[in-house]
Amino acid sequence: MKPPGSLSAVTRRRAVAGMGVALCMPAVWRARADSLPVLRDLGAANGIEVGSAFSLDPDPKYRAVIARHCAVITPEWQMKPPQIKPDAESPYNFSIVDRFMEFAAQHRQAIHGHTLYWAHLPIDWAVGATFEETKRLYGGFIRTVAGRYRQVDTWDVLNELIDDDSWKLRTDYLVGQYGYDFIDFCLRTAREAAPHARLAVNDYWVECAAQLCEGKRAGVLDMLKRLKAMGSPLDALGIQSHLYSRMPIDPDATFGLINEAAGLGLESWISELDVNDSTLPADIAERDAQVADIYTRYLTGTLRHPAVTRVIFWGISDYYNWVLYDKEHWDQRPPETGDARPALFDTANDPKPAFYAVARVLAEARPR
Ligand code: G3I
Repeated sequence: MKPPGSLSAVTRRRAVAGMGVALCMPAVWRARADSLPVLRDLGAANGIEVGSAFSLDPDPKYRAVIARHCAVITPEWQMKPPQIKPDAESPYNFSIVDRFMEFAAQHRQAIHGHTLYWAHLPIDWAVGATFEETKRLYGGFIRTVAGRYRQVDTWDVLNELIDDDSWKLRTDYLVGQYGYDFIDFCLRTAREAAPHARLAVNDYWVECAAQLCEGKRAGVLDMLKRLKAMGSPLDALGIQSHLYSRMPIDPDATFGLINEAAGLGLESWISELDVNDSTLPADIAERDAQVADIYTRYLTGTLRHPAVTRVIFWGISDYYNWVLYDKEHWDQRPPETGDARPALFDTANDPKPAFYAVARVLAEARPR
């Protein structure tokens, strides 16, 4: 199940781990794992839901980490529109997502639905000749998916709407064609299909100090204000929080966006947290320490605000992590720095300094 193009070293380790523990974790792993602080409990004690993207990888040790530390899980890619219904001829395929629901139910976890609209992964079959026809088609998709999974109580209804350069609405796909009217339509349709669920729009690059992030923060905030002025049913802002070592973070500026969103009545969810360590030292101990420090500064700065009610990692473990297998696209790293180490657990699903750093921040967070 590991993604295509995984690293050979990682693949070898996984193969050995998978063979050795095909059905259950050896006692030594269980003892070590059981001795760790439990992130979902630390978060819950202060009203913060802790979770991770998950892709149903079958490795027992990896699954134990997800089960133990996550109060909420997000299908990393299997719940996106083309994965569920790629074309007009294909029936809706819920088989994989149903397995997420089973896993979550087994481990008393919430499911965060991701996502009902993303221009990066369009469903062209849902585009009509007119806006009315498009609303019929795309509205049917939203109603079918959100209506089926009533156990999903939070949704990224629309993902990544603000352009990286203009800092205004993207000009592609249906938001590009119909603008705020389409965004409002998607939110209202999701509310009708899942009246119990909290609805979010989700975006990235609002976390750093650079002008790029400053512009995106302003663009995201303008979007939130316009949607609230339209009366759109919006409950939260997803702040993806893909932190890059080459783009120093600005927790205070991120806090400012959170505070403005809270002024509009919105929660903020840290929705896809990871640290891309591409410019950090090659020495693993030093690199892990600096990654832990970035997690500490970012979460300490953002969790100061009571409107931040959720922290989801976009892979809690290096064992299955998009930063490792999509490396040719993300941050060309100097060869001497070796494989990325973005997450709280390493490729053997053992805790890293970042795990203990996050545990401490969660334990010390002000109660919501
Ligand atoms: O599609 C195949 C599937 O058939 C195969 O069985 C499976 C085997 O592992 O691989 C699948 O391949 C890829 C999958 O990741 C697993 O690696 C998909 O082609 C590929 O599109 C998918 O990429 C995901 C990407 O979103 C697009 O959905 C990444 O895992 C996921 O981390 C990434 O997540 C996005 C968020 O949704 C939005 N924010 C940015 C974030 C990172 O790009």
